[in-house]
Amino acid sequence: QTHLIDTKDLSQTEIEEILERAAFWEQNRAKNLVPFAGRFVANLFFEPSTRTKFSFEVAEKRLGLEVLNFSTAHSSVAKGESLYDTVKTLVSLGVEAAVIRHQEPEVISELLERDTGCVIVNAGTGKTAHPTQALLDLYTMKKHFGHVSGLKVAIVGDIAHSRVARSNLWCLGKMGAQVMLSGPPEMRDPDLEKFAPYVPFDEGLQVADVVMMLRIQLERHQDPIFHAQDQYHQMFGLTKERLNRMKPGAVIMHPGPFNRGVEIADELVEHPRSKIFEQKANGVFVRMAVLEKVLQGGQEL
Ligand code: CP
Repeated sequence: QTHLIDTKDLSQTEIEEILERAAFWEQNRAKNLVPFAGRFVANLFFEPSTRTKFSFEVAEKRLGLEVLNFSTAHSSVAKGESLYDTVKTLVSLGVEAAVIRHQEPEVISELLERDTGCVIVNAGTGKTAHPTQALLDLYTMKKHFGHVSGLKVAIVGDIAHSRVARSNLWCLGKMGAQVMLSGPPEMRDPDLEKFAPYVPFDEGLQVADVVMMLRIQLERHQDPIFHAQDQYHQMFGLTKERLNRMKPGAVIMHPGPFNRGVEIADELVEHPRSKIFEQKANGVFVRMAVLEKVLQGGQEL
């Protein structure tokens, strides 16, 4: 079985194949191609999500899949049923793939070890991995620049809590991009700096082709210093003044959700150099490609 747990597990060839298939799905979006008609998938989100959850659902429906949306509060998980037993139950009903977001990566590892009988797609685990976000980020870069190799990408913000930074780091490296990490010293992660250098924000800003801003994950912080949002914006936010110091042709990205006026100025979210809403649109095509890869055996198109 082909699961998708992290970009770490994908070869460069597999990443390229996913990006090519995503382009196919984007080009053919107006045709009603439904290679997986009549087959079932389930979306199980144990952490909040808007983009990933609905983007997967749109991708699944575009492929012709029947979608079961699992609600934690209204399921037998609320009565203490384990995730393994939940997924096994769904498999016995005919579900072939489970798209899961969970705060604990170990829970996904346990599912893989015990083999539920269906493929698992990681839709975000705690701070460790968010592979489909990283793949859609790659797709967005490739679409804009025509290539990923050789790009300089500055990932800026709450690196310590960011699964997006991690999954991006692994696949950007495999595709030949150069990653820099930046943000407040309190939000650095020494383990990740073994793979990409930490640079002062204003230094990274001037050389990057892509400035990827990250949300401060207020819900994962204990320290009240991070609630001084105006101060954060002045020191580490992407402001209009900083935009003017970016390389000509460089673009802004952000996985969302964004805190307008904190890590990014309100007026820059929809700026012509921002790819933020394009990233969301691209997520559907990339997730179609991922589902096609893990499910296999779709009808000939
Ligand atoms: N980018 C992202 O994962 O957003 P959601 O949490 O809304 O899914």
